[in-house]
Amino acid sequence: MRLTRYFLPVLKETPSEAQIVSHRLMLRAGMIKQAAAGIYSWLPLGYKVLRRIEQIVHEEQVRAGHIPLLMPTLQSADLWRESGRYDDYGQEMLRITDRHGRDMLYGPTNEELITDIFRGHVSSYKDLPLTLYHIQWKFRDEIRPRFGVMRGREFLMKDGYNFDLTKEDALHAYNRHLVSYLRTYERMGLQAIPMRADSGPIGGDDTHEFLVLAETGESEVFYDSAVTDIRLGEREIDYDNVDQCRAVMEEFTALYARTDETHDEARFNEVPEDRRRNARGIEVGQIFYFGTKYSEPLGAVVQGPDGKQSPVHMGSHGIGVSRLVGAIIEASHDDRGIIWPEGVTPFHCGIVNLKQGDAEADAACEQLYSALTAIGLEPLYDDRNERAGGKFATMDLIGLPWRITVGPRGLKNGVVELTSRRTGDSEEVSPEEAVRRIAAIYEPHR
Ligand SMILES: Nc1ncnc2c1ncn2[C@@H]1O[C@H](COP(=O)(O)OP(=O)(O)O)[C@@H](O)[C@H]1O
Ligand SMILES: [Mg+2]
Repeated sequence: MRLTRYFLPVLKETPSEAQIVSHRLMLRAGMIKQAAAGIYSWLPLGYKVLRRIEQIVHEEQVRAGHIPLLMPTLQSADLWRESGRYDDYGQEMLRITDRHGRDMLYGPTNEELITDIFRGHVSSYKDLPLTLYHIQWKFRDEIRPRFGVMRGREFLMKDGYNFDLTKEDALHAYNRHLVSYLRTYERMGLQAIPMRADSGPIGGDDTHEFLVLAETGESEVFYDSAVTDIRLGEREIDYDNVDQCRAVMEEFTALYARTDETHDEARFNEVPEDRRRNARGIEVGQIFYFGTKYSEPLGAVVQGPDGKQSPVHMGSHGIGVSRLVGAIIEASHDDRGIIWPEGVTPFHCGIVNLKQGDAEADAACEQLYSALTAIGLEPLYDDRNERAGGKFATMDLIGLPWRITVGPRGLKNGVVELTSRRTGDSEEVSPEEAVRRIAAIYEPHR
């Protein structure tokens, strides 16, 4: 993409309505525009990041054996009356009446709808295990939407639902989700710590939230600092392997890590004092096992191997896709702007032409641009007729992890400058070497 042809409405001033850094930077970098309280348009740069995150979520769900589908945003109230949640859900549910006077709602979550799909088509244990998921917009009429996309009213969520014959099988699904979530967040350059949490209106006994540590986080958390040393890394996972998934789950949940709702002071005090941490975190996902809470009232039953009918064991599992955009920025920025992790960056690198209109500099930039494009990378070429300072400021603000700077002086010696946004370190290399280096950096992310 060439900047002169792109739509990147960056703001010069810091917007006064934004209270936290991710919201400020998303507005300044021209990623989002508020449409109504807690409802945003995703401008091209923001939309690109949202799609990258969504893609990673899809890939890791499919890798875990989960099956994508798409359910609608609008649902009929009847199903929610069947489960008993229509009245329970309260004012967070946006209720709508259609022209025939039928009660509808904008889905805040999809347990009822997915269970209805299941009961209409599945009747035998032979079709289990089954995990279906979708990535769809949700609406919750939050009393106080704030912090931009972090607590919106309309937001994009991945929500998945497992159906299993036995509790044991459903617990494997729970562990499988936990492992796949760890991999998902790590690919985005994030550390999200599973913490024992409270189940809220979804209900159920077993639940973990995934928290990204950040001062601006809405949740208070208590943990043993040793949990921050554990990484999934590159290890091979066989998602069908019950023992392996359980072992990873145990490894990541053995140490004390809880949100304030389930915090237990006595147990916390058993953690060595120098490792006790009380901090804040952003909830970027949650997994639940809730047994037959929905399958029983909604009649989602299957015939078992013994011929007997029994309600299926279920769980639901969510990732806050749009919230992640803000969470990643909270975890990765400096006073000049965003610093995208390679896994989610909207463009792979920036090309800055120091002297637009100089025949040699223009030609070198064009050549870099086509060489990068030819190997499937997306550069953002700042081809505006602007001072170098202004171009650098824009690149720093929008946070592309790598920048290639091209100017007549360097070209005389056959070199361009390759700069890391994170460290600020620059190196002079030939244009060909710059392309090779960028290609190698992104190799593990493709
Ligand atoms: N109002 C919101 N705005 C943005 N993301 C949200 C919002 N509410 C929930 N999410 C995201 O969706 C994920 C799954 O939702 P869920 O656990 O059902 O939400 P909650 O814990 O708020 O009831 C959460 O972990 C969070 O990342
Ligand atoms: Mg939650």
